[in-house]
Amino acid sequence: MLPIEVSDLKKNYGSLKAVDGISFSVKQGEVFGLLGPNGAGKTTTIEIMEGLRERDGGDVKILGLDPWKNGYDVHKKIGVIPQEFTFIEKTTPREAILYYADLFNVKCDPDQILKDVLLDEKTKTYFEDLSGGQKRKTGLALSLVNNPEILFLDEPTTGLDPNARRAIWEVIRNLKAKGKTIILTTHYLDEAQQLSDHVAIMDHGRIVAIGTVDEIIHQYGSGERLEIQGTEKLAEYIKANTELEVSYDHTRRTITIPLKKRIDALAALAAAEQSGMEWGEIQTREDSLDDVFIKLVSEPLGEQGETAIDSGKKRRR
Ligand SMILES: Nc1ncnc2c1ncn2[C@@H]1O[C@H](COP(=O)(O)OP(=O)(O)OP(=O)(O)O)[C@@H](O)[C@H]1O
Ligand SMILES: [Mg+2]
Repeated sequence: MLPIEVSDLKKNYGSLKAVDGISFSVKQGEVFGLLGPNGAGKTTTIEIMEGLRERDGGDVKILGLDPWKNGYDVHKKIGVIPQEFTFIEKTTPREAILYYADLFNVKCDPDQILKDVLLDEKTKTYFEDLSGGQKRKTGLALSLVNNPEILFLDEPTTGLDPNARRAIWEVIRNLKAKGKTIILTTHYLDEAQQLSDHVAIMDHGRIVAIGTVDEIIHQYGSGERLEIQGTEKLAEYIKANTELEVSYDHTRRTITIPLKKRIDALAALAAAEQSGMEWGEIQTREDSLDDVFIKLVSEPLGEQGETAIDSGKKRRR
């Protein structure tokens, strides 16, 4: 049995299909990154898995249980940080943990939990006086009170400075090392890439890509390419004088040549040199997760953006 199994999940808000038939599963001890633009349906999906929202269709199993019908049993085994986590202002992290332990009716070691979330230095400070990062760590601490098997972290690092984000990453990695299964949403793709074993990219309630980050880049990225800073005239010259596929981005004043073979770069540069025209910086690059994400979730730019020199041979976005 897999700890998380979601199949053909649907949720409507009136006529809006917030979640429109998504399926995925997560193995034990895995970090699963749920990515997507604002309004893609990530929080809705997470809240259904947590048993906080009722679904309109499909199946969800959390540790073999239906989170809506068996909410009580599911809540005992999961930890949650909501997207907008906040807590009673005049409470210290230590008191908050004890309060939660009482609520859940479980025994826990608050000092160990505070240590686990790297918050052992601010245990007696009121919540209202903690920094953003320390508040998130308090949220993480509370999600651990019942020693959960699965953690749902909805944007645990949004708005934090780079160091605070990295501190949370360390906590997440330590939790993974302890065998916890973690669902993570984030708008920071580097974070998803650093932490996730698998990711799903959602858009308009659907999953538009799923797999490891490498698989997704391989499947949807455009492979290695040469970029030359120069004019459209130069792009046309290279196109006319080689067998290469050439496109031109007016906004970035960049000529792009997909490299089927690395030696193609030599032919392109030789043609550029031969043209007698000026050209600037050159580089080869491959799509990153950011590039693929933008291709998959944004509307086509239209004619003002990148155009293929070869008419009708528009590059796939
Ligand atoms: N309670 C609700 N009632 C009506 N519409 C809702 C409700 N909750 C969410 N929505 C809508 O459902 C869609 C998905 O919202 P959701 O919060 O799941 O997106 P998200 O991917 O988490 O976005 P973000 O990255 O901004 O957190 C949005 O269009 C949102 O406006
Ligand atoms: Mg959200």
